[in-house]
Amino acid sequence: MASAIVYTEFGGPEVLHPIEIPDPIPGEGEVAIHVEAAGVNPIEWKIRAGFRPSDPIAEPRRIGGDGAGVITAVGEGVDGFRPGQTVVFFGASGAYASDVVVAASRVTPRPPQVSAAEGAALGIPAGTAYQTLRSLGVGTGDTLLVHAGSGTVGQTVIQYAVLWGATVIATSSELRFDRIRQLGATPVAYGEGLADRVREAAPQGISVSIDLAGTDEALQTSLDLVADRDRIATLVRGRDAASLGIRAFSGGSPVPLTAQQLAWRAEAVPVTLALMAAGRFSVELGPSFPLADAAEAHRVGQAGAAGKIALIP
Ligand SMILES: NC(=O)c1ccc[n+]([C@@H]2O[C@H](COP(=O)([O-])OP(=O)(O)OC[C@H]3O[C@@H](n4cnc5c(N)ncnc54)[C@H](OP(=O)(O)O)[C@@H]3O)[C@@H](O)[C@H]2O)c1
Repeated sequence: MASAIVYTEFGGPEVLHPIEIPDPIPGEGEVAIHVEAAGVNPIEWKIRAGFRPSDPIAEPRRIGGDGAGVITAVGEGVDGFRPGQTVVFFGASGAYASDVVVAASRVTPRPPQVSAAEGAALGIPAGTAYQTLRSLGVGTGDTLLVHAGSGTVGQTVIQYAVLWGATVIATSSELRFDRIRQLGATPVAYGEGLADRVREAAPQGISVSIDLAGTDEALQTSLDLVADRDRIATLVRGRDAASLGIRAFSGGSPVPLTAQQLAWRAEAVPVTLALMAAGRFSVELGPSFPLADAAEAHRVGQAGAAGKIALIP
């Protein structure tokens, strides 16, 4: 038997609990994967807590989408994968599990330089950062302001923007300044007086901004400093984007992602893995927990742990 984390009601972390499930069998176009690490993302606790619209729970609901592991079986019509191969996946229906079935199109071979926990950190964060930067056309000549640059998505935004030639100003707590500098950005502390500190750090001005903090302060600072509202995006306050005249990509937005945006999100994992194998991209790992302790992993994540949290089955 395999095991998986489920919940049967919305609520606090304690609603998460392990159950036994039959060993999953891959259908056409799918692979079965023994999970070595599952990534914990904020969207998972937001949905679990009932903060994001979601269908009523009719049966025990699986949770998690990103992970890394070893292929155990390959379904019909799948080329290029074999049992025993180490892989990274995203978009699974229930990655908090010992075993999952995933569409082969969402699976990428994992190079030996990348650990399972690092691979499990890529799906949502890399996809979101890469797509947002592409959608905003960030590149050489830009000065980008990213709010919450020390978070998992923020660190990915910084690394891609720097690679693509932009100058990056990233907000965080002072405790996280060293990591932001290490990635090639200029750190600025969030809190009162933020806009003035950003002006001082970037006298040339800010041409584009990404909000990963979701605070009024972050949104107002972007509105004050970026002239073109089409180059301000929020990933957290999607519901407010239309009234502010700015862009949103998911994050509670009623506007679904376009086919192009979804394609960029999918492209991000193989592109990032190739950069990691070449030593040009790094993931900051946070605490890891046994699969059965998913509730504790959510508590720690919601409290704001540094680095990417992983569940290890
Ligand atoms: N729309 C989408 O498709 C999408 C996709 C992925 C994530 N998201 C959202 O994006 C946000 C970030 O995700 P994540 O995975 O990067 O989260 P994370 O790794 O938990 O990082 C959160 C970061 O927020 C920072 N922070 C806390 N209070 C802040 C404030 N007042 N001002 C600025 N920064 C502050 C923290 O920085 P310090 O530790 O330095 O205080 C921390 O690094 C979450 O709300 C998530 O739901 C949206």
